[in-house]
Amino acid sequence: MKIAIGADHGGFSLKEAIKDFLSREGYEVIDLGTYSEESVDYPDFGYKVAVAVANGEAEKGIIMCGTGIGISISANKVKGVRAALVTNEYMAEMAAKHNDANILAMGGRVITPEIGKRLIKVWLSNSFEGGRHQRRVNKISLIEEGKLEERS
Ligand code: RB5
Repeated sequence: MKIAIGADHGGFSLKEAIKDFLSREGYEVIDLGTYSEESVDYPDFGYKVAVAVANGEAEKGIIMCGTGIGISISANKVKGVRAALVTNEYMAEMAAKHNDANILAMGGRVITPEIGKRLIKVWLSNSFEGGRHQRRVNKISLIEEGKLEERS
């Protein structure tokens, strides 16, 4: 599986730690930057990963900034992206099972690399449950199309 990863300077060291981890676990990693601790703007990297996932270049994405907030907001502006900001294992599990999140967002100044790796493992090892959750995810797509009100 191809996984695109991206971070700003606040998520850079977490990105480096999870990059090695993902490669060791057998995933093909597409690193879209940033490539140093130099200050950059998180929307640039949230957007790059979001586009890679939305276009199918990568099956999933992982994005990181200081808190995970700015980069997840940015990624979620791209059609077809469901980026979930997670801080614990329960959220990582539900992001897969209930939200069918195709991008995981984390805060490099919020969690340790060890917790980050654990959250990624939990997210990648759980699957979307469908059913009532499919209906809800479909409604997210309707919001993207500006058509939710027609249906509710
Ligand atoms: C950068 O200092 C910081 O604002 C950014 O990494 C992120 O936390 C924004 O949401």
